[in-house]
Amino acid sequence: MRIALSTGGGDAPGLNAVIRSATLAARRRGWDVVGIRDGFNGLMFPTQYPDGSGVMKLDASAVAGIGHLGGTILGSTNRGNPCHFPVTQPDGSVVYEDRTDELVGRFAEAGIDALITIGGDGSLTIGQRLFEAGLRVVGVPKTIDNDLDKTLVTFGFNTAVEIATESIDRVFTTATSHSRVFVVEVMGHYAGWIALYAGLAAGAHAILIPEIPYSIDLVADALRRREQRGGHFAIVVVAEGAVPVHGQRTVVATSADQGERLGGIGHRVADELTRLTGREARTVVLGHLVRGGTPTATDRLLGNRFGAAAVRALDQGLDGVMVALNEPNVEFVLLADAVGSLRTVPLDCDTLLTARELGISFGDEWTDLGSAKPT
Ligand code: F6P
Repeated sequence: MRIALSTGGGDAPGLNAVIRSATLAARRRGWDVVGIRDGFNGLMFPTQYPDGSGVMKLDASAVAGIGHLGGTILGSTNRGNPCHFPVTQPDGSVVYEDRTDELVGRFAEAGIDALITIGGDGSLTIGQRLFEAGLRVVGVPKTIDNDLDKTLVTFGFNTAVEIATESIDRVFTTATSHSRVFVVEVMGHYAGWIALYAGLAAGAHAILIPEIPYSIDLVADALRRREQRGGHFAIVVVAEGAVPVHGQRTVVATSADQGERLGGIGHRVADELTRLTGREARTVVLGHLVRGGTPTATDRLLGNRFGAAAVRALDQGLDGVMVALNEPNVEFVLLADAVGSLRTVPLDCDTLLTARELGISFGDEWTDLGSAKPT
């Protein structure tokens, strides 16, 4: 048995723990393991690599001491989807080719029997396409955004929340000293999980998430009321995908390859709050800081559990599945069921209710403490 590991999309803390765990679990079974460089690029374009090979042999010594490291030793990319591959024409236009069969052929040429694809919705969807085209595939859900369906949580999320919370804690002390309003923008793509969890944990006064379109007037009202109660500073946490009522997401760039790149909402909210309240509002954009660096113990543990479980799935003859956390166990769900649907913050979830009961503003009209039911 010879298996390949691939890491695709934006990196997330815990990827190396998955690589190490899957490698050790497979080697214990006597299997060969290779890592594909940069998503699937290593197999698609091997000659682009200095040694002419886009795969690296993985064994105990190759993965020694990587479990606590951020990033991925295999490299990653969110460009060049082999199932929807952009090819620039002589006239400058771009057409998209489906190179799925070609990639499956590359696996066969390399003598690889099965793939463990570690990624978010994009990489898992590619995995599903490869599975449909005949390759044995097991998926491992990864993203700091925690927006994947069918698993309680993805690895990377916990680290992102920890870093965001610590950063907001630091903003608190300077905000207090200068009696300022601070707006902290955090990643999360179209979901508000990071903003909600870190904002609540750090004690923010307003949290704006994509799931609840906000009215800037209501956020300003909340800050004014806080000031009247003697609160001379305020912290507003904004998810990068937050949207004003009747407004649009704030997008830096859009490409057919990568979709929307979000960012800039923090500055917009700060400018509007300054205008409406007359108070100085500053912006801190945490950006990729919440995605880089050392994974928390929670993410390392989950990465270890997911990596070993992916190998276990293959050993049990399963494929076309994704490993998923369903405490106290890791279980296997159909990859086809796990991809294509975004898991956003449910409006009746306990965490959101808790934040509301503590008086945190979400920039909406919510007042009815009795109507929300925790799930
Ligand atoms: O999906 C993870 C994520 O970090 C999102 O939170 C963010 O919107 C996106 O990736 C940023 O991607 P990139 O690093 O390609 O700009």
